[in-house]
Amino acid sequence: MSEEPRRQAGEAWAFRTRVEREAARRFARLALAIEAFDADSPVPALLRRAAEDEHRHAALCADLSAVYGQPVAASAEDAAIAPGSLGPRAAVLYEVVASCCITETESVATLTTLLAEQVEPRVEKVLREIAKDEVLHGRIGWAHLAREASISVVSFLSPWIPAMLAGTVGEGLFTAADTDLQSRELLRHGVLPHSLKRSIFVGTLEGVVFPGLEKFGISSRPARQWLEARGPGARTQPS
Ligand SMILES: [Fe+2]
Ligand SMILES: [Fe+2]
Repeated sequence: MSEEPRRQAGEAWAFRTRVEREAARRFARLALAIEAFDADSPVPALLRRAAEDEHRHAALCADLSAVYGQPVAASAEDAAIAPGSLGPRAAVLYEVVASCCITETESVATLTTLLAEQVEPRVEKVLREIAKDEVLHGRIGWAHLAREASISVVSFLSPWIPAMLAGTVGEGLFTAADTDLQSRELLRHGVLPHSLKRSIFVGTLEGVVFPGLEKFGISSRPARQWLEARGPGARTQPS
């Protein structure tokens, strides 16, 4: 493998390591927060197990980034991501929807796409191990949302979905990629070409996330407008 793809693959796996570590800390914090207002909820125990999964994923990703010769920088401090105007319980719901219903669901779609490609055996092993857990992590989000929706109105989240999406992907996802990031060679090492990443992101919103949110009365209209404003690569079907 030549130097540049090797560096890019290493950086991608180092980035994933940090994301997994951040997820571990966020899930542990959210477990505590939910317990404080909903003692009977099964969600905190599931989140704690998910946090352990994320630590395991982080170690797997760090091993791979080392294989490609990249060190992993320290992760950002864990901080609540919800807007300050939300009350504590709504803020937890915001974070659970953003990190489980959206981020974990998108992660499953990405991993599934990569697993359908010819990837290096050691990369495939890691992708498989992570994918089986992320499916469950997505479900934890939907379970918490259903529980909250059964006792209160959750449609207030609708105008916040664009901010959640912006927090999930960098603005760069919707700009034209340079050829390096489009490289098919990187696929073998678990890195998606830019254009494919974008179409998976939008397709998963359209096929899974938006319909899932609509079931609880959370309109996808503001999110669709946000995507619309990001250009042709981000278009969804009209609702
Ligand atoms: Fe993970
Ligand atoms: Fe996860």
